[in-house]
Amino acid sequence: MKDQITKLKKEKNAVILAHYYVDGTVQEIADYVGDSYYLAEVATKVQESTIIFCGVSFMGESAKILNPGKRVVMADQYADCPMAHMAAIDKIHEVRAQYKDVAVVCYVNSTAEIKTASDVCVTSSNAVNIVKNLPNHDIYFIPDENLAHHVAGKVPEKHFIFNDGFCHVHKSIEASEVKKAKEAYTNALVLVHPECTKDVLELADYIGSTSQIIEYATKSDAKEFIIGTEMGIFYELLLKNPDKKFYPVNPKQICPNMKRISIESVLNALKTLLPEVVLDEEVRIKAYEPLKRMLDLAK
Ligand code: 13P
Ligand code: SF4
Repeated sequence: MKDQITKLKKEKNAVILAHYYVDGTVQEIADYVGDSYYLAEVATKVQESTIIFCGVSFMGESAKILNPGKRVVMADQYADCPMAHMAAIDKIHEVRAQYKDVAVVCYVNSTAEIKTASDVCVTSSNAVNIVKNLPNHDIYFIPDENLAHHVAGKVPEKHFIFNDGFCHVHKSIEASEVKKAKEAYTNALVLVHPECTKDVLELADYIGSTSQIIEYATKSDAKEFIIGTEMGIFYELLLKNPDKKFYPVNPKQICPNMKRISIESVLNALKTLLPEVVLDEEVRIKAYEPLKRMLDLAK
């Protein structure tokens, strides 16, 4: 299958992008692997005319929004992030009416439609810096409540309006389990994703995006780590740090949507060039603004 993929990539002028949460066998055959910010940025730089996206829908949509001239094909049609739907356009209008100078800050884990009503996108790797540097005092942070509270804690000078979206995978990681893991692995540092709940974040030695967690573990002198995010990240953690030990907080840290993607589905996407990400042009143009603003501000 690997040989067929290599041959088809050349024939179809395609490149494979994958998120750290997909299975290691898929990360292995991808041309670029990274966190959501890196993948959005790299999508604007690749030369190939077709992008095969190994991730959830909002990631493929972002690639298409930023690159209307490219064909973006999802490795799996149904890989979708439930949190991406957990914000309402009506509510955004309500908040805008109430707070005249509000900035609607939209976590990139959101649908293209939600992005059209937002001022700026952020990812977990740049949310704090971007929010800090916005001129607005009032911040309506959608959809993720946990990331919003984490950012609010780091930017206390601003007033936050919260939304009740969440990631079911990170919510399943419980503080009591983190405490147990710390007791079992007394020398281990706790590294977690900011989508985890507040009580879990309070137990962490480091909070960061997937690539920031990998970077932290790689640079650290510590040899053992308790990891509070999706298990797919273990592939890159171990690749970069074969001499270090990584423990999940619990065995349920698995995103079922990311795990829909297999080598077979990548091969099928390359053969058929389906399912293609297709967006209404008006939606794409409106959703481009906050995404582009993120790329500019993150620099
Ligand atoms: P990253 O931006 O850290 O890759 O996270 C994406 C995501 O879906 C987290 O659940
Ligand atoms: Fe969405 Fe959570 Fe899966 Fe990330 S881990 S893609 S936020 S469901």
